Amino acid sequence: MFVCLCHGISDKKIMKLADQHGISDVRGIRQFTPLGSQCGKCIRQAKEVIEQATITR
Ligand code: FES
Repeated sequence: MFVCLCHGISDKKIMKLADQHGISDVRGIRQFTPLGSQCGKCIRQAKEVIEQATITR
């Protein structure tokens, strides 16, 4: 499922990045992708995905 439609970033990609780099916030994901840099609508959902990734870590 795509979280960021503007840049085609999926929940899987976010989870993978969060796992690989020990990221626990959107800012961390933005170091590797342009997530949220266009319309910004994806930020909230991205936060939820990152939370899920950190819970299951
Ligand atoms: Fe992510 Fe628009 S959906 S910036």
